[in-house]
Amino acid sequence: MFNNIITSDQFNKSDVSYICTMATHIRKIAKTKEGLLFLKSVLPHKRAMLYFDQPSTRTFLSFYSACQILGMNIAEVRDINTSSELKGESPEDSIRTLSSYFDLIIIRSKDKDFPKRMANLFLNIERTIPIINAGSGSAEHPTQALLDIYTLLRSFENTGGITGKNIMFVGDLKRSRTVKSLSKLLTLYYDVHQTFVAPKQLQATDEILQFSDKISYTLSEDFESQLKKADAIYMTRIQSEWDTNGESSKIDISKFCLNKHHLNLLKKDAVVMHPLPRRNEIGTEIDRDPRAMYWRQVRNGMWIRVALIAILFSVDVKILKYTYNNS
Ligand code: NCD
Repeated sequence: MFNNIITSDQFNKSDVSYICTMATHIRKIAKTKEGLLFLKSVLPHKRAMLYFDQPSTRTFLSFYSACQILGMNIAEVRDINTSSELKGESPEDSIRTLSSYFDLIIIRSKDKDFPKRMANLFLNIERTIPIINAGSGSAEHPTQALLDIYTLLRSFENTGGITGKNIMFVGDLKRSRTVKSLSKLLTLYYDVHQTFVAPKQLQATDEILQFSDKISYTLSEDFESQLKKADAIYMTRIQSEWDTNGESSKIDISKFCLNKHHLNLLKKDAVVMHPLPRRNEIGTEIDRDPRAMYWRQVRNGMWIRVALIAILFSVDVKILKYTYNNS
């Protein structure tokens, strides 16, 4: 189905649906001890490297747990200053070295093209291993987009699925890679409206709007009036790590924060999402509202990543057989 996971537009709708179905099978298998032991027996002969040159808690541990669930051995490079790159080695040579020891490399990088460059590097050499993009620059976060779609599909199971829904993105839409990747994946679903709500300095740019022939969308600065019409509210934090001159500290985001006063404006079946980490754009008092889905996103992310790794190593059929033999 795919040899690497680099960008969210590499997937078509049936890929996404298959990945989500696999995640559900795996989630159900993992409910019993026997199931967990089976999953652990699937890839004990494979080794994964987590190569993260940017901070991460969730994505790192989500991939770490996903590899553990499949019985893989895991190693990590999190601080490039402890690697030979400090001696002047190129990241390309580092990754090629790692590929001698590992069967999978999961990369998070400041450089938006790095995972793609590494996947291309392996096209021309004999030993080729899969690359997964765990977030690249401010451009792409394909596995987050898949877990977001999975969360939407699960949330809208009884209300007709994603078709026809209004998905509202809020916050730093200019620099949020999760928004860019999810917005692209949503174009696979029929009749979805995307609403982008942000202060004008952080509004969605052509990186998203280039797909405007495929999406119906609204750009707005009016959080409260759009909130009432949304089926999903996807909040994001200000990505100040990309500032060149502290510019985000000058932007007033107080009108783009969700607090308990907004709860009665929301549709009763709406869902509130956030890729996390959050700052103050969602008050903790929202956490207990049944429409808050961000902690479920975290858990869904782990199952989606198990599914993706299983598919990359072609053990998905083995997992499906287990389901059929045990149901
Ligand atoms: C996001 C990221 O790294 O892009 N976090 C994540 O992976 N869940 C969002 C963010 O950092 O704001």
